[in-house]
Formats: sequence, C-alpha cells, structure tokens
Amino acid sequence: MKWDFPVEWLIWPFIWQRKVESVSKTLSGIKSIDDFSLEDKKVFIRVDFNVPMENGRILDETRINAALPTIKYAVEKGAKIVLASHWGRPKSPEDFTQMTLEPVAKRISEILKLEVLFIEEPRSDAPKALLAGLKPSQIIFLENLRFCAGEEENSREFAQKIADYTEIYINDAFGASHRAHASIVALPQLVPQHGLGFLMKKEIAMLDQVRWERQHPFLAILGGAKVSDKIDIIEMLLEQVDTLIVGGAMAYTFLASQNISIGKSRVEVDKIRFAASLMERAQARGKKILLPMDHIVVKNIKQPEEATLTFTPSIQEDFLGVDIGPQSIDLFSKAILNARTIFWNGPMGIFETPQYSQGTFALAQALAENSKATTIVGGGDSAAAAMASGYGDKMTHISTGGGASLEYLQGKKMPGIEALRPAKKSEPV
Ligand code: 3PG
Repeated sequence: MKWDFPVEWLIWPFIWQRKVESVSKTLSGIKSIDDFSLEDKKVFIRVDFNVPMENGRILDETRINAALPTIKYAVEKGAKIVLASHWGRPKSPEDFTQMTLEPVAKRISEILKLEVLFIEEPRSDAPKALLAGLKPSQIIFLENLRFCAGEEENSREFAQKIADYTEIYINDAFGASHRAHASIVALPQLVPQHGLGFLMKKEIAMLDQVRWERQHPFLAILGGAKVSDKIDIIEMLLEQVDTLIVGGAMAYTFLASQNISIGKSRVEVDKIRFAASLMERAQARGKKILLPMDHIVVKNIKQPEEATLTFTPSIQEDFLGVDIGPQSIDLFSKAILNARTIFWNGPMGIFETPQYSQGTFALAQALAENSKATTIVGGGDSAAAAMASGYGDKMTHISTGGGASLEYLQGKKMPGIEALRPAKKSEPV
C-alpha cells in the first residue's frame, strides 16, 4: 500500500500527547491570563524589565518586547493595569536615585501609545486612588520594586499593600521567577485570582523542549567565564547530552585538567579536579566533550589589535586566550550540524570586543544557517551574544531569563511558578 499522507501524521498524536503531558507537568492547575475576564479589573502584571541601561538609555529592549503580548492583551481586554518590575540590585543611597525605572516607563508609553502614570512609591495610596478613575488610555507603572523595603525579603506586609489594590495578579517575569521576592511569591498568595502571562508560558514550553522533549543527538554548548557558576548545570547536562562543547574562559580550566598549558589564561585552580573528573566520567559513558583546538590569544587584553592565533590547543606562557580559533570553529560547527537539539549557554570569547568575537558569532551563524536542530539559547550573556551576532531571530528560542532558565532546566522548583499553584485545602490563601 502506498502512503498518500506524511508519515509524521501517524506519530503526531503521540508527540502532541507528550507535549501536553510535559507542559502540564510544570504548569498543572495554574491559570493563565486568558482564563480571566479582565474588563474593568485591576490587574497587576509583574514583568522583568531588568534591561541593560546606561545613564537612562535603554541598550537592549528584548525583555520589554517579550512582555508586550501580555500587556497588549490586557489593554485590549479593558483591564486597569499596574505594571511593575525590579531593576538591578540597589544597595547604596545613590543607587536609590540612579536605578529608577522611569526611562522604561517612558519607553512603554511610546510603544503602547498610552499615558503612563509613574508611581514613585508603590506602598502609598496613590495607585489605589488612580486606579479608581483610570482611563482606558492610561496605565500605571510602579518605580523599581527593589527600592521598597520588604520586596527582597518576600515580606507579606509589603505584598499586602499591593494586594489591597489588585484584583488579578499576573506573573510574566520569567527572568525573575527564580527569586522568592514579595512581588513574585507573597503577592500572588494574597490575591486569589492569579495566573501566568504569555511570556511565562512560552518560556516554559520552549525550555521543556530541552528538559523533557529533547531529540538526540543532544548537544550542549557551554561557555562564559566560570566553571564554578555552572557546576550544577554541567552535571545535569552530562546525564542528558551526547556531546558537550566547552568554550569561553571555562575551557581553560578543562584544558588545564588535561595538562595542556594555558599561559596566563583565566583558570579556576580549585575546579581543575572537577573538570578532570567530568572528562573521565564522560569518556566512561561514551559521551563526547569537545574542547577548543586553537585559540585567539593576546599578551594584554586591552590591546586587541595585537591578537594572534595559536594553531594548537596549548597557549604560550606570556599569552592569554580570549576567543576560540578557526579549527575549533570547524570542529564545533560539525557537532552543530549533526545535532537535533541544541542548548547554548555562554559565549566562546570576549565577544563584546570585535577582535575577540569571531568564535561566538561563527557558532551563532552555524546554529542559524547550518543546523536543523531545535536551538534554545539560555538568557543573559548568551542572549546578548546571539543578538549581537545578528542571528538572534533565527534561533528557535532565546530565553529572557539567565539564572532562571538554568535553574528551570536543572529541575529546581521556581518560586514564581510554585506561588501560582492552587492552594491546597489546608493552606491559607
Ligand atoms: C536577571 O536579570 O537575571 C533577572 O532580572 C533577575 O535579576 P537578579 O539576578 O538581580 O535577581
């Protein structure tokens, strides 16, 4: 008999079933913004607008754009919206004047073409009073939540001030949902009508493609500065991957563990044994760990015009590595070509300096142009690198969460998701 329909149709019901099961594993019982009737309701939307800013100038709007579908939906449905986010980690008194979210509030006003009422003191009565007479052409935007005592302590008292003027709570701040802070945890527990925004749902669905639904060969590309920051994720990935690429400054610690000289390159001496054990365990289990075979090196990091190529995995005494070289790009690109699921976290070099950016950008190009795989990019530096390469929009998904995406993939419970689960009968709401 000849098939006259694609064979995938036969297996699609099973794939779909797995997708639904896996998404429900994480979000089971949790409501979404489109489960509520929003008209005329006071809706508090927690977003992550912790965007790169310099002297009040927004350098990257990715996180703002990612939250727009939820905000626009709430506007269209006639909600009375209060938007809120943290920004940076204010500590000193000067921080409290400099780390304002006012520039982001202005930008939101331009994008949505709505009047934004900026509230400097989220604990005051001002939001409540303004909400009472809020026009459809207006939204409320709160000042940096981390200026408020109690936010980082997950204070119920502080959350109660906001709960007093909130009817529906929506969390769309994926990047901050690994923080047990008042606007993420205490607040939804005080507002019985609570749920997820569209960005949260998208992030979970996309990251689940790595966590639960990965297709093999599964390749993870890890880079960035420190092995110590990523020990848990490396351990987890070793269980799951077929191939692990280690680049960036992390690679020098791995090379040192194989007794390869790395000159003056950055190394974490106390992690050399961990790297050696990981290499041994990978080999014993038939998994490949690929390390750079050549490097871009300099004597002085501040003199990029002096950068040269090593042609070998080892680095001479006076030099330090700042990027991977062409042989490494070739080796890593071949692994990219063969993979069906790829998770990328961390740049291959100091990509912010043009002379040290080739390795990172070449891998982004290989992911975008040569790979048929599902490509998921962890947030933070990797997201910035993917965007700077010009290939960002060709990835399957770039997470808006740095720490959050890594914690989620490690299987850690996210406080921002747990707080949205329906309360058990015995628990107070
Ligand atoms: C981030 O940028 O990763 C999030 O906004 C969380 O910020 P934090 O690490 O300062 O809590």
